[in-house]
Amino acid sequence: MSANVIALATSRRPAEIPSLEPVLARRVTVLGSTGSIGISTLDVIAHARATYGQDTMPIEALTAQSNVETLAAQARALHPKLAVIGDPALYTSLKEALAGTRVEVAAGRDAIVQAASRPSDIVMVAIVGVASLVPALRAVERGATVALANKECIVAAGDVFRRAIQASGAAVIPVDSEHNAVFQVLDAADPNEVDRVTLTASGGPFRGWQKDRMQAVTPAQAVAHPNWSMGAKISVDSATLMNKGLELIEAHYLFALPPEKLSVLVHPQSVVHCLVSYADGSTLAHLSAPDMRTPIAHALAWPRRIVSPSRRLDLASLGQLTFERPDPEVFPALRLAQDCLREGGLAPTILNAANEIAVDAFLTKGLGFLDIPRVVEAALGEFGSHSHNLSPANLDAVLAADGQARELAGNICRRMVA
Ligand SMILES: NC(=O)c1ccc[n+]([C@@H]2O[C@H](COP(=O)([O-])OP(=O)(O)OC[C@H]3O[C@@H](n4cnc5c(N)ncnc54)[C@H](OP(=O)(O)O)[C@@H]3O)[C@@H](O)[C@H]2O)c1
Repeated sequence: MSANVIALATSRRPAEIPSLEPVLARRVTVLGSTGSIGISTLDVIAHARATYGQDTMPIEALTAQSNVETLAAQARALHPKLAVIGDPALYTSLKEALAGTRVEVAAGRDAIVQAASRPSDIVMVAIVGVASLVPALRAVERGATVALANKECIVAAGDVFRRAIQASGAAVIPVDSEHNAVFQVLDAADPNEVDRVTLTASGGPFRGWQKDRMQAVTPAQAVAHPNWSMGAKISVDSATLMNKGLELIEAHYLFALPPEKLSVLVHPQSVVHCLVSYADGSTLAHLSAPDMRTPIAHALAWPRRIVSPSRRLDLASLGQLTFERPDPEVFPALRLAQDCLREGGLAPTILNAANEIAVDAFLTKGLGFLDIPRVVEAALGEFGSHSHNLSPANLDAVLAADGQARELAGNICRRMVA
């Protein structure tokens, strides 16, 4: 990857810290409001309203893909100007569910992009998968502050985001807990002052298992995360450790860190979210209870802090925090992601697309759990030399590679399941 990378997310506090009033008046759009992160975001805003006043953080737009019932309930409770359902067939259901309200209703993929284009101060990107790419990019292009929960869009199109951020001056505040933690403790005047950034991983539900025991893992077992309550896709990614691999790539782009300065440590309690080690031997860590409402509140209010409803840390009750190295033999997805990080170009795009297809095939089509990294590895191999002629800085090239990798991975899944 290119050496002269700029950080997409700069954690340096601005010279002028705003008073709390303009922070509380920020207008917010939530893309993916019906998912785990979306619901937590609205919970943080509801808590802020109860604390600071009902006009806190007015909502510009909410979007979902197919969950009309939850979207309509959220819209009735929070009065956004616009509610969008991604599946166009559900337009009438949403329209009927919001009859008698002043909420504007729209449907379809383009309408989600339109929602990101509307003039809110902050766009929370909480759509799962690369479906977030175009709406997130639109928010960046219009110079919004982007609270970024979604990691797949940065993994697939980090260079595209870099160019768009350079052009618009948009601010990106990471919401992924480890990256939000790095954002809070990475504060070096010069990149050479940073020796290493370590992201922690819970190890997922199969930490300590041998491979043969994982052969018959079911979707229900894989989504039962020991510490976090999350959507199905990221839960499976946590179980394979692909999530941590995607996060290494995300950290590379967000903080302009070279692959050799990024590492992973398994930490089953999920209390320490990152460690930043500096040249003078200091290591700074970020700790919080495993509750996504903490990084969400931080991202919504940065550079101020607001009261959030998240669980508080009680180290005495926990007693001990433990750390161990990940096992790349048992969890090959992490190694695959690290290889793609080093290779650069479109390799992360292919990795991400193939993984999305493989996880879906595991959840819904009978693909084996251990086959997920096999599908990804095979797709990377089959995609092979195609990737070298394409520039990952170009959105069309990224979308073409993403589509091609999905097709390849789909075929590989079908062969494996047959
Ligand atoms: N959950 C966490 O604790 C956590 C932590 C760190 C990072 N993240 C990242 O945050 C993102 C969201 O994760 P999540 O766990 O909140 O996911 P989730 O619970 O599955 O929610 C996904 C949201 O995206 C919407 N959506 C799904 N497919 C879509 C499509 N094709 N187009 C537009 N919208 C679509 C869903 O709408 P419907 O409800 O209508 O399907 C839902 O609102 C992921 O990238 C994940 O890696 C999550």
